[in-house]
Amino acid sequence: MKLCVALDMATKKQNLNLAKKLKEYDIWLKIGFRSYIRDTNIILQELKNINENFKIFLDLKLHDIPNTMADAACEIASLGVDMFNVHASSGKVAMQTVMQRLKQIKNPPLVLAVTALTSFDQKGFYEIYHEDIQTKAIKFAKDSYESGLDGVVCSAYESKAIKENTDKNFITLSPGIRPFGEDKDDQKRVATIDLAKKELVDFIVVGRAIYNSNEPQKVVQKIIESL
Ligand code: C5P
Repeated sequence: MKLCVALDMATKKQNLNLAKKLKEYDIWLKIGFRSYIRDTNIILQELKNINENFKIFLDLKLHDIPNTMADAACEIASLGVDMFNVHASSGKVAMQTVMQRLKQIKNPPLVLAVTALTSFDQKGFYEIYHEDIQTKAIKFAKDSYESGLDGVVCSAYESKAIKENTDKNFITLSPGIRPFGEDKDDQKRVATIDLAKKELVDFIVVGRAIYNSNEPQKVVQKIIESL
């Protein structure tokens, strides 16, 4: 299991400072909407300048018509990131189009599909998708697998069932991790590292539990020791 640290802080400087503090660790860094919109793609190179071995997950959750998504996917690939994501609810045609277009590129990034956001509870999810979270997350995962994607973003609670319904090597990445049972914040389906391990999660994403700590290095060290 690998640790992916979400760089969702209020300023670019804070994100870069955190990356500097964590530069000795073998970790992934996640750049999401906040940083990408504010700091533009320059941030990606700045992170690699801190440690060229940092792996970068660009969390922009593409969701549009197939051609627009495939164009965006190629642009993302040209930025040299290691992984990015799309929404599985954009549909199989869109996901297949993305994968077909990326085949033409040398060393394309890994592509994951978001199944159910970890901030949904059953009620909120049902209002939109008219199915329970686990059933729909597995359906979305099968769609993504059949479309040739590398894996999915899901809560830790769905990881094992998704692998059983697709392939054990189909990647699962789980946000909503509160490593040692910290506050849930806006997340509804949070899980600890122990649960993520039992559920065979490949990547855990941790944001606030690290960057809101007074000693982020210690938290990361403790997480890595427990992986
Ligand atoms: O601070 P916290 O650990 O809750 O951060 C979780 C991160 O994972 C955030 O950047 C959020 O946007 C992202 N994410 C999520 N649920 C998903 C996909 C991404 O929480 N399904």
